[in-house]
Amino acid sequence: MQLFKNKNIKAKVDKNALPAHIAIIMDGNGRWAQKRGLPRTAGHAAGAETFRTIATYLKDIGVKYMTVYAFSTENWKRSQEEVSAIMSLLENYLYEAIEKMEEDNINLTFFGDTTPLSDKLRSLIERTNDISARIDGFKVNVCLNYGGRDEIVHAAKEYMKAGGDPEQLTEEVFSNYLYSAGVPDPELIIRPSGEYRISNFLLWQCAYSEMYFTDRFWPDFTGADIDRAIEWYQGRSRRFGGVK
Ligand code: FPP
Repeated sequence: MQLFKNKNIKAKVDKNALPAHIAIIMDGNGRWAQKRGLPRTAGHAAGAETFRTIATYLKDIGVKYMTVYAFSTENWKRSQEEVSAIMSLLENYLYEAIEKMEEDNINLTFFGDTTPLSDKLRSLIERTNDISARIDGFKVNVCLNYGGRDEIVHAAKEYMKAGGDPEQLTEEVFSNYLYSAGVPDPELIIRPSGEYRISNFLLWQCAYSEMYFTDRFWPDFTGADIDRAIEWYQGRSRRFGGVK
């Protein structure tokens, strides 16, 4: 659903009622590039820049958690060239993050199965995890080789491996075995690029999330688009299955 036909309308965000956690499906990189006669990989490079801009923006306005979908369990079906390009963008970002995250007060976590990733990427992830353990700042979760169904199956296996008793299993206990353990569910999920699907993203966590869809491609996203999404969210009536 497109809320504002006139994209220049300035959103009025109530800074005292921000969602604590915003999750984003960074979609439309390929089409953004295609529209400009560029290779898809250029779209991902632009998308990685937008990720930096939006992470900084969310931190600055006071959102506590950001989760992004960087690479799904299904994205391996793309060409080798495209997969490698996305992995190198992630590597570059992690080199930067390792240098700067302490100073910027950013805590980086990865949701997903990192075992099929390259040794280099896994070692960078380990280094960022070590640094993150010391930082209690803005929390960025990067979904990498992530699928919502896969996460749920993985959590069930972990519970069983830990000798969990089926009779003792509650939703609260189960959520501690998910990649997102300890992270509150996103109040707002944003999907750019005109697609109206959840695409295996945060299937457990999205139970009561408000979903904001817009035609804008991810590389074109700015703080003003985030404001529009938050203003829309602030106009929603969240009932959690009850009556208001
Ligand atoms: C979806 O757009 C985007 C991806 C599958 C990759 C997202 C990856 C990045 C933005 C780069 C690395 C991330 C970080 C955190 C530095 P699409 O390719 O499906 O777009 P399309 O639907 O227009 O083809």
